[in-house]
Amino acid sequence: MLVNAKEMLDKALAGHYAVPQFNINNLEWTKSILLACEEAKSPVILGVSEGAGKYMTGFKTVAAMVKAMDESLGITVPVALHLDHGTYEGSKACIEAGFTSIMFDGSHYDIAENVEKTKELVKIAHDKGISIEAEVGGIGGVEDGVASDGEKADPAECKMIAELGVDFLAAGIGNIHGVYPADWKGLDFDVLAAIKDQIGELPLVLHGGSGIPEDQIKKAISLGVSKINVNTELQLVFAAATRTYVEAGKDKEGKGYDPRKLLKPGTDAIIAECKNKIAIFGSGNKA
Ligand code: 13P
Repeated sequence: MLVNAKEMLDKALAGHYAVPQFNINNLEWTKSILLACEEAKSPVILGVSEGAGKYMTGFKTVAAMVKAMDESLGITVPVALHLDHGTYEGSKACIEAGFTSIMFDGSHYDIAENVEKTKELVKIAHDKGISIEAEVGGIGGVEDGVASDGEKADPAECKMIAELGVDFLAAGIGNIHGVYPADWKGLDFDVLAAIKDQIGELPLVLHGGSGIPEDQIKKAISLGVSKINVNTELQLVFAAATRTYVEAGKDKEGKGYDPRKLLKPGTDAIIAECKNKIAIFGSGNKA
């Protein structure tokens, strides 16, 4: 059964580990992630961007697929189905479609408008038992074609959003989506500590989890990060494994072109990378 993400993140904060949010793109992604998390006995949040939702023909399709797959695979670990960087309208659509968790990203509005819209969505989500993430400060990089420079969050604004009753908070601390450039300055732990100081026992979310060195991940967790989002790294390992298969001419041997064979190296690579992240985040055997 799918659950909301509140309890798993409260437990992660208390237990000093982070729950992975792995973003899904299709059936193969979803199956690989669920199998990896079940094997590692890790709770998991399946993230769905609005673009990925559209690609999969809509949020209703996604919710139906994830619910059925969770049941058919006999998954026993807690699984939350979560909208990633939702608009105001997208958040409402996911609540209707049967998601168990949403992120409303009002970080591009001024703080007054972010507060107003977040507050309204907290009520709608909580009335239905759905958890809600909000965002302060932009996460840099490009996602779904939308570019953001990345802006470190203002701790006082984080406090304002935290007081609205959100279940977890994404705050920019120098993290960016996608591949980190060679001259990246790293996470800003002073800003992270100042935010933590303002928000108390509210789990923090680290976006752009792909490619952050392990020591920085561990320090972020020690300072209150309880959810880490990973998307790009799963795409990179899938692409690399598929390339190796095709370049070795395996698709031309026997029935190597069969999609179940063609996609297997990529899906195996996703499973291995999920397990690697679970080991770093410390969420294994916590389900
Ligand atoms: P990456 O694609 O950099 O892993 O970021 C994922 C993310 O933060 C989704 O919200």
